[in-house]
Amino acid sequence: MTKKKDLKKVESYKNLLKIYPKKKLDEMVKWFLELESSYIENKEKLIFNESFIKKLNDYTTSDKPIEYIFGYSFFYGRKFYVNNNTLIPRSETEELVNTFLKDIKEGRVLDIGTGSGCIAATLKLENQLLNLTATDISSEAIETAKKNFKKHNLEIKTIISDIFENIDCSKYDYIISNPPYISFDESIDDSVLKYEPHSALFAKDNGLFFYKEIISNAIRFSNIKKIYFEIGYTQKNELENYLKSINIDKYSFVKDNSNIYRFLVIDTSNI
Ligand SMILES: C[S@@+](CC[C@H](N)C(=O)[O-])C[C@H]1O[C@@H](n2cnc3c(N)ncnc32)[C@H](O)[C@@H]1O
Repeated sequence: MTKKKDLKKVESYKNLLKIYPKKKLDEMVKWFLELESSYIENKEKLIFNESFIKKLNDYTTSDKPIEYIFGYSFFYGRKFYVNNNTLIPRSETEELVNTFLKDIKEGRVLDIGTGSGCIAATLKLENQLLNLTATDISSEAIETAKKNFKKHNLEIKTIISDIFENIDCSKYDYIISNPPYISFDESIDDSVLKYEPHSALFAKDNGLFFYKEIISNAIRFSNIKKIYFEIGYTQKNELENYLKSINIDKYSFVKDNSNIYRFLVIDTSNI
């Protein structure tokens, strides 16, 4: 039987199959070759290099997300660099982007907590009339976002900021944010907890901290017309109570493709 230690620097798919589970090997091949499906004709003839074999070992011996192993992920059909300083973009966030794009045709947009920059970059790529600024508290995340903006040939201003600390709110018409929103006592997937940045996941005040901070500050600026948020799937009622408590009545909760309220749109134009 072939063992891992017998592997050469370059190995055929056929030999790797003797050691690694087919499902995982095929998933790796798909990511390595950046394919949409793991179906490849004549896969048996493929030869893989040392770097692939190292990644394959990592993938089969840990629960590390494949996106972090390869250093990229897909969002809205485009490739974005990710690393352990940035959240892996989620598909529901594509729906947040869609909600925004359907509604807003031009203007100055601030993306708070940009992470990999996937929201800001996609908005700009889908609508050149939008003027984007991307901000995050993490300088490492901002570096990754910059790399992604460069990769997609985009001119997007970046600012390192703790929410609004270094932001001049008078310069924006719209805010979009997928902030950290998981409460500290919520149980989440082991691999998310182990590999994704905690500063991108958790928020105090039962997960509501960033919503309250962003809303209460933004409404002081008459130029800000709307705020678009992704929210946790249990947060609708609590957020609605909060909005009522500060006399905001023009808002809507939007469902995702799974029929769950996952987005909040607040009309702040007449506050
Ligand atoms: C849920 S992630 C969203 C990342 C990306 N926008 C996306 O949708 O994939 C939240 C982001 O907020 C950032 N963040 C955390 N605390 C922050 C703060 N106080 N001010 C600004 N950004 C913050 C994190 O670094 C992280 O990149």
